[in-house]
Amino acid sequence: MVTLSAEAKEVFGKNKVFAIATASKNGIPNVAPIATVQLVADDTIWIGDNYMVKTLANVKENPFIALYVWDPEKKRCFQIKGTVTVKTSGAEYEKIKAQIKAKGPHYPAKGLLILKITDVFDCTPGPNAGKKIE
Ligand SMILES: Cc1cc2nc3c(=O)[nH]c(=O)nc-3n(C[C@H](O)[C@H](O)[C@H](O)COP(=O)(O)O)c2cc1C
Repeated sequence: MVTLSAEAKEVFGKNKVFAIATASKNGIPNVAPIATVQLVADDTIWIGDNYMVKTLANVKENPFIALYVWDPEKKRCFQIKGTVTVKTSGAEYEKIKAQIKAKGPHYPAKGLLILKITDVFDCTPGPNAGKKIE
């Protein structure tokens, strides 16, 4: 099991909008701004799907996702990679749907992407940049 360190979790918590990178089966990259991103366990991130188009199409044919978290105050950065399962029913989906609808009933809450973390890299500018840490 690959987990986020206490430091990476702290940096994660400072981010409001995440750049969610995916790729099609043929390797065409895509990046999308997504705010509904939450750490639900040390190794698991939930991503709420309201309006995804290419992101959703990509993860259905290629489950890999990458994102980064950045702390502008202390200048710390982590790249997080993992694989995604898409849920549109079941207890986990119902939970995020309720959270999203509580923020605004107009949000479609059409799905949940469950990201299991497989790799964490340091992306802080400096000597450790690019090093795999988890
Ligand atoms: C600040 C910001 C936050 C957003 N948060 C979400 C979100 O939490 N969930 C979502 O599905 N779309 C969200 N969007 C909208 C997506 O970025 C938008 O639907 C985009 O087209 C998705 O990319 P894709 O079409 O390549 O999948 C957000 C957009 C912005 C600008």
